[in-house]
Amino acid sequence: MKYLVFLVAYAALAQQPAARILVAYHSETGHTEKLAQAIAKGAASVEGAEVTLRKTSDVKPEEIARYDGMVVGTPVHWANLTAETKRFLDQVGAALWAAKTNGDGRTAGAFCTGGGTAMGKDVARLSVLAAFLTMRFTVIGGVDSEGYGTLGPEATTGPADPGVSEKEQEEPRRFGERFARLTRQVRRQ
Ligand SMILES: Cc1cc2nc3c(=O)[nH]c(=O)nc-3n(C[C@H](O)[C@H](O)[C@H](O)COP(=O)(O)O)c2cc1C
Repeated sequence: MKYLVFLVAYAALAQQPAARILVAYHSETGHTEKLAQAIAKGAASVEGAEVTLRKTSDVKPEEIARYDGMVVGTPVHWANLTAETKRFLDQVGAALWAAKTNGDGRTAGAFCTGGGTAMGKDVARLSVLAAFLTMRFTVIGGVDSEGYGTLGPEATTGPADPGVSEKEQEEPRRFGERFARLTRQVRRQ
C-alpha cells in the first residue's frame, strides 16, 4: 500500500511541467557571478527544474512573469543592495503588476558577496527578500553546514577572506538544489 502511495505521488510530480527558475545577478568584478553560477548548477541538478542564469541588466520585462522562482544576487554597496539590484526588483514588481499577477505560488531567494565580514551582507539580502515578500513571493533561505537556516548564500571577498573559494561555492550549490526542490512544491498549478 505504502509503495502504491509513493508511486502515485511520484507519478503526479513527474507529470508536472518543469519549474522555471531564474538566477539573476548584478556583479561588477565577478564575485557575485561565481555564487550565481554555483546556485544555478545546484538548481539544475534537480529533476523537473529549468534554470535560466542571467545578469539583472539582461532580463527582459516580458519574461519575468513566466518564472516560478527567482533568486537574486547583489554585491554589497555601502551596507546594502546595489542601485542596479534595486532597479531590477522595481522592474519585477512592475512586470507582475502589468501582467495582473503577483508572487503567490512563486518562490524567491537572495544571495550576496561583500568585501567585509560584517559590513552589510545581512541588510543587502534582507532588502532583496523584503521586496519579494511585499510582492507575495514565498521566501526560501539556505541551510549552513551546522544545520542553521540562513538568509541565503554569501561570501566575503575582501582582505580577510579574498575572492570566492571552492568551499564558498558549496553553500550556494546546496541552496540551489533546495530552492529548486521547494519551488516544485510551492509552485502555483
Ligand atoms: C561602491 C562600493 C561600495 C562597497 N561597499 C561595501 C560595503 O559597504 N560592505 C562590504 O562588505 N563591501 C562593500 N564593497 C565591496 C563589494 O561588495 C565586494 O567587492 C563584492 O564582492 C563585489 O562583488 P562583485 O565582484 O560581484 O561586483 C563595496 C564595493 C563598491 C564598489
